[in-house]
Amino acid sequence: MAFPVLHTPRLLLREIAGADIDKVFEGLSHPEVIKQYGVSFTTLESTKEQMDWCANMIKAAIGRCWAICAADSSIFYGVITLPFWKKEHRKAGLGYWLLPQFWRKGIVTEAAAKVIEYAFTQMNLHRIMAEVEDDNAGSIASLKKLRFVYEGTQRECEIKDGGFLNLEMYALLNSK
Ligand SMILES: CC(C)(COP(=O)(O)OP(=O)(O)OC[C@H]1O[C@@H](n2cnc3c(N)ncnc32)[C@H](O)[C@@H]1OP(=O)(O)O)[C@@H](O)C(=O)NCCC(=O)NCCS
Repeated sequence: MAFPVLHTPRLLLREIAGADIDKVFEGLSHPEVIKQYGVSFTTLESTKEQMDWCANMIKAAIGRCWAICAADSSIFYGVITLPFWKKEHRKAGLGYWLLPQFWRKGIVTEAAAKVIEYAFTQMNLHRIMAEVEDDNAGSIASLKKLRFVYEGTQRECEIKDGGFLNLEMYALLNSK
């Protein structure tokens, strides 16, 4: 099946390519991005793991992974994913990050709205879930703007930088 390239007024959502590794490393090693993101890398070499994760997810049809770019493809903004796709339960997760210079321009909301529309209409998903560190105001605001509903908090469920963190769970149902 051909990779689903998606378009919005300002954005092109395309398949991640091997050549994106420099930008992925820039994002997933940036202190502002990884402060509240669950995945990070300290070397370009180790970032290959993330590229392989995305490629395998697409190949095995257990998720989707898009590069978020400017509509004319001239700028790489970040990444949006639908991981943990369980076809039998019609559900998947949602994850995203942007390079900090592109924050607060409505980019993730615009990208995620398109991905969600695609997931509900083309992937037959019924439920999309996101887990967010409880102090991640930007991601929580984005999810609420996308009409995700808070379902509870997993308290002290992971260790990061030597301390426990709380993960808030949000989900959106295709209830049409
Ligand atoms: C979370 C993140 C993707 C948000 O992307 P973004 O494109 O800046 O978000 P948007 O511009 O679409 O903003 C959506 C809403 O969130 C609000 N928002 C964004 N960042 C915010 C922040 N730091 N604090 C409070 N509100 C914030 C915006 O104001 C907007 O609401 P509004 O339209 O009512 O004003 C971005 O901050 C990021 O990459 N963070 C690091 C990685 C990360 O945390 N990923 C998510 C892990 S769960």
